[in-house]
Amino acid sequence: MRPDATYQLLRNLTSPVVAVTSRLDAKENGMILDSAVRASIVPTIPRISIYVHKFNFSHDMIFTSGTFAVHLLRTDQFDVIRRLGFVSGRTHDKLADIAHHAGTLGLPVLDECYAHFECRVINVMDTGSSTCFLGDVVAVGHGRAAAPIGEVMTAAFFRANVPAEWRGDYEAQLKAAQQFAEKRSRDIRAVVWKDLTA
Ligand SMILES: Cc1cc2nc3c(=O)[nH]c(=O)nc-3n(C[C@H](O)[C@H](O)[C@H](O)COP(=O)(O)O)c2cc1C
Repeated sequence: MRPDATYQLLRNLTSPVVAVTSRLDAKENGMILDSAVRASIVPTIPRISIYVHKFNFSHDMIFTSGTFAVHLLRTDQFDVIRRLGFVSGRTHDKLADIAHHAGTLGLPVLDECYAHFECRVINVMDTGSSTCFLGDVVAVGHGRAAAPIGEVMTAAFFRANVPAEWRGDYEAQLKAAQQFAEKRSRDIRAVVWKDLTA
């Protein structure tokens, strides 16, 4: 099968479009990803895994802090995707204009979201171009709300409804990320995760 056709089939496996926040010392940041997966079937041991490209500022913040928060977004939160998913926290204070508060782990938790999960990294896997972070979910909520509101922003909903004025930016960014990943995907290193809480 042609690589493009394979990629289109694989897109069926993308996750909902989520906001991932991190904190390292005084610096807070947020990014968008569609590679978050439930990584445990045990109700008492909830886990999430995420793939974060190494060129993203969030990558090093999560790697160094050992924590991240995943936010399921609502279908009316395209503005959050636009703000967090297209510029880097290296050069922008992206959370300055997005209401948030400190969560249980001190991570920035968005006031507005469908649900949030604060996670502590328990293992990592190098993919060459990105790191897969496996996290224990240690705190759960709905932002500032007491219960979920609205519908979850799935990848299919995002792709079907991405605003026309920034669809081009999204496609250009995806292409650039694919080119970066193509060069580095075969350069896989063994990484031993150290428990940062020990
Ligand atoms: C819909 C969407 C999905 C994305 N999925 C991922 C992903 O799975 N992994 C990733 O590393 N970046 C992904 N990104 C790109 C990052 O969100 C983007 O590069 C961001 O600017 C990184 O910010 P940072 O440098 O502050 O960490 C996605 C962006 C969008 C808009």
